[in-house]
Amino acid sequence: MKIVNSPPEMKNLSLTAQSGGSTVGLVPTMGALHEGHLSLLKLACQYCDFLVMSIFVNPAQFGPAEDLAKYPRPFERDCELAAAAGCDCLFVPQPQDMYPENYSTYVNVENISDTLCGASRPAHFRGVTTVVLKLFNIVSPQIAVFGQKDVQQLVVIKRMCQDLNLSVKILTAPIIREESGLAMSSRNVYLSEKERRESSVIYKSLMAAQELYESGERSGEAIRRRVRSIIDKSDTVRPEYVEVVDTARLKSVDKIDRKVIAALACRTSESGTRLIDNIILGGDL
Ligand code: PAF
Repeated sequence: MKIVNSPPEMKNLSLTAQSGGSTVGLVPTMGALHEGHLSLLKLACQYCDFLVMSIFVNPAQFGPAEDLAKYPRPFERDCELAAAAGCDCLFVPQPQDMYPENYSTYVNVENISDTLCGASRPAHFRGVTTVVLKLFNIVSPQIAVFGQKDVQQLVVIKRMCQDLNLSVKILTAPIIREESGLAMSSRNVYLSEKERRESSVIYKSLMAAQELYESGERSGEAIRRRVRSIIDKSDTVRPEYVEVVDTARLKSVDKIDRKVIAALACRTSESGTRLIDNIILGGDL
């Protein structure tokens, strides 16, 4: 597996692979790989023959009070896992190469970047779409894989690709969970033992939402209430939002008459870790 730091070198490598007939795939990550990332790589392997994984802890998507400095960066381990998962190239740009002095251009997908997680993380999705578009421009992938766990990110990125006529095909990988049901996330390392145990309440609440939906309930409010009532049983996991939204505009739905996303964000009381999760009711994304 080749490790590349320089954006121009990455661009050349990718274009050379493509001119040799390879399909280039990209899995953008911030490192600290877990089973969830490995499942994205596995899916990408099925659709491309030159697989690039990027590792870049993107400062533009962290708010001033967020965990940019302490975000886990186990680089050696990530390299081993990426190579074992079939990556051909690891792209690891440096912040000064991605955002040099006088950097001034940002991509903002309006409206859907401001709801759900965007409501409490105002510049987050602007940072995500900016870096993802930069990565697409550097790597020129024909396919890119994102996880359903970050469902708003996925919807925002798909919207950006459509609105800006990008030709990259976005593939979605399902959420990978720990045995307790907790969705895998690089931030789970922040959780105390008690928080990790109690965070299983999040998945339980989403399973209850699914059960209610499958029993015929079509009121968004009834489903939101059911999810909250289960999470409220924990004194360690506090909901930041619980929403039932449509899959295109991410607007709150009252009467469910098409597929919807039941999405939530919680914060744990000891370490203050923010956890997100979701489930699609009535179909796939
Ligand atoms: O999902 C992530 O890890 C990040 O938001 C991404 C897509 C790599 C952009 O920095």
